[in-house]
Amino acid sequence: MSASMKQDIPVKVGIDQKDRKKLAQKMGAVLSSTYVLYHKTHAFHWNITGPMFYSVHKLTDDQYLALAEAIDEIAERVRAIGFPTPVGLGNYIKDSVVDDVAALPEPEAMIKQLAEDHQSISRQLHEAVEEAEELNDVFTADLLTARIGAHEEASWMLSALIAK
Ligand SMILES: [Fe+2]
Repeated sequence: MSASMKQDIPVKVGIDQKDRKKLAQKMGAVLSSTYVLYHKTHAFHWNITGPMFYSVHKLTDDQYLALAEAIDEIAERVRAIGFPTPVGLGNYIKDSVVDDVAALPEPEAMIKQLAEDHQSISRQLHEAVEEAEELNDVFTADLLTARIGAHEEASWMLSALIAK
């Protein structure tokens, strides 16, 4: 992200521009992870088979819709603090803590993978929240904290499906 880009809107919210840029980058990485998980959730939603088909198909339906909303919310917050969002699926995959999926795993492995991916994003979010709190950006800290709750809930629901 270059400071000379026309997407860099001058914002005076009481937080230093350099600090906001660091936070915007962390949020960009969270956005990338969320985007990759959105795609993976959708891909598994379409391709799940077997006795858990209906439960997984329904649960992932709710989850990809929620992820899509979150993506928009995070991206627009990046804009509101004055920076461009990351663009390009290749960049998203590169910056994501969630691995892209190239082939379909077995049904149970799909669910396990999604549950773990939600936890990975949750850990990434903890770092971003710390950064936001250090800058006293309370709105961003709140938004990202709510995302931690959402990912932990999603992870629990997925894990519960395959608990023995
Ligand atoms: Fe669907």
